[in-house]
Amino acid sequence: MRITINQIRDMKPKGEKFAMLTAYDYSTAKLVDEAGIPLILVGDSLGMVILGYESTIPVTMEEMLHHTKAVVRGTKRAMVIGDMPFMTYHISTSDALRNAARFIQEGGAQAIKLEGGVTVAEKVKRIVECGIPVMGHIGLTPQSVNQLGGFKVQGKTPQAAARLLEDARALEDAGAFAVVLETVPTPLATLITRKISIPTIGIGAGAGCDGQIQIINDLLGSFTDFVPRHAKQYARLADIIKSAITEYYNEVKAGSFPTDQQSFTMDESILAELTK
Ligand code: KIV
Repeated sequence: MRITINQIRDMKPKGEKFAMLTAYDYSTAKLVDEAGIPLILVGDSLGMVILGYESTIPVTMEEMLHHTKAVVRGTKRAMVIGDMPFMTYHISTSDALRNAARFIQEGGAQAIKLEGGVTVAEKVKRIVECGIPVMGHIGLTPQSVNQLGGFKVQGKTPQAAARLLEDARALEDAGAFAVVLETVPTPLATLITRKISIPTIGIGAGAGCDGQIQIINDLLGSFTDFVPRHAKQYARLADIIKSAITEYYNEVKAGSFPTDQQSFTMDESILAELTK
């Protein structure tokens, strides 16, 4: 049985913190699931860390579904959350419903995430009414990077801070089961966490949130274009991967790979027949 939204919601009043990670492929998702992480986001960050786009904006529904299916196949216990890409829920409520449903029906995800607060609250309400759990995402919303004027800390002025609290409340009222707070000052994220009844999940929002999310490639040190301030590298896979590839390359050139251990034998008499 997979983790349910009720189990996640019930952690908040008990003060139980939880970790969430992104994953984009079968093998990684399997490891994340086996490590006991309860929530896996197939984030549109895959546009940057997997597909090499400059932002998350070019990511399509087809790309998201392709990776969501792989993550679902790799997991047994974690709740898999599909991230709605740019402009797949903005134009109309029917668009939002159709695309949210695709994550559940075609992708096999158990929930969806979308960016925005007050402006998307009505759509969140309709998606939830259709039986699809929704996770909100406010603060630095990367799909609006051009409108925000860059990847900047959000909620620093009195107006912006008040707006963020209003956004969080709008998502709570619309029925979202949790909300991501991205790149928000710690005291504001802590205040929002106290003021709403649904769990907050921080990324660059301090330790006062109910849960934390990290991008798996940042955590493992496998994405080398840049290291965001909010990321902690628990490993440096890029170095390990590069040194393994170099060793393989050198062994092939030197003729020391493959050895008998990686090779297969056959009946000598068959070979003798061929060489007659
Ligand atoms: O796309 C993503 O990975 C995200 C997380 C950073 C929350 O939205």
